[in-house]
Amino acid sequence: MSIQSVMLIGAGQMGGGIAQVMAVAGHKVYLNDMNMGIIKKRLEFIEKILTKDVAKGRISEEQKAETMKNLIPSTDQKDAADCDLVVEAIVENMDIKSKVFRNLDEICKPSCILASNTSSLPITEIAAVTKRPEQVIGMHFMNPVPVMKLVEIIRGIATSDETFAAIQEESRVLHKTPVEVRDVPGFISNRVLQIMINEAIYCLYEGVASVEDIDTVLKLGMNHPMGPLQLADFIGLDTVLAIMETMYEGYADCKYRPCPLLRQYVKAGWLGKKSGRGFYKYD
Ligand SMILES: NC(=O)c1ccc[n+]([C@@H]2O[C@H](COP(=O)([O-])OP(=O)(O)OC[C@H]3O[C@@H](n4cnc5c(N)ncnc54)[C@H](O)[C@@H]3O)[C@@H](O)[C@H]2O)c1
Repeated sequence: MSIQSVMLIGAGQMGGGIAQVMAVAGHKVYLNDMNMGIIKKRLEFIEKILTKDVAKGRISEEQKAETMKNLIPSTDQKDAADCDLVVEAIVENMDIKSKVFRNLDEICKPSCILASNTSSLPITEIAAVTKRPEQVIGMHFMNPVPVMKLVEIIRGIATSDETFAAIQEESRVLHKTPVEVRDVPGFISNRVLQIMINEAIYCLYEGVASVEDIDTVLKLGMNHPMGPLQLADFIGLDTVLAIMETMYEGYADCKYRPCPLLRQYVKAGWLGKKSGRGFYKYD
């Protein structure tokens, strides 16, 4: 199956990034969010990135114009009626995602594949709210999407081989490397990564070292490009907490218990880079 038109639900950092790489690949992409202000801001951000790419000689002015032309703002999920693929990238919450998938199932044509960019939630459960569970799949991109090569592909229990093959092929069209991962809480990427981030937050909570020093240990000691606390800020602390909660509940194992300091930051609205304050402060 060849994918031509796509809808991205959620114009946040992930939805925007996925929309960008899909538009660069020549797809017609509806970028959907709850209001036009959010979408406009995201499109301006994408244009800024593409302008930098032109200045650096990575793409031509024509390619930039073509990419921007491929991005269509949408505040109505009914625009997905003719799409071949819908990728959901909204808040990491099962109830909210389920509502969206139930709605998309009614709107989209029978052949359309419904994918979720969820970081940790069970694809099987998301698929179960639709009448097409064989066409529901996890397509987990990494942040920032235009830069990171990996896509974890997660099959729900009912996902068909045809759907899997189409998403594997689509990942390659986007110049990504797909890896198949079983439908377990946090998949591979977050099952491993978030334990480290949560442990770093516990170190801060217990006063073992400062934010900067914890990050320096991982950067200089383990050659990580950025420290775990800065990475948590970039992911979004609400997302980090949601992933930890899913794994804590899903594995019923105390090693996934979210650090109380993480809960407190989220309650304070300190969500990291996107809110201007997390473990670090941002302009
Ligand atoms: N942040 C990361 O590093 C990262 C990496 C991989 C996957 N993810 C996953 O991607 C998803 C989105 O994360 P994000 O970091 O982009 O979040 P974000 O907060 O930046 O963006 C979420 C967007 O979804 C919109 N939204 C919420 N409900 C909606 C609805 N019903 N219809 C349309 N739009 C709606 C919000 O307005 C917001 O713009 C989550 O499931 C997250 O777990 C995040």
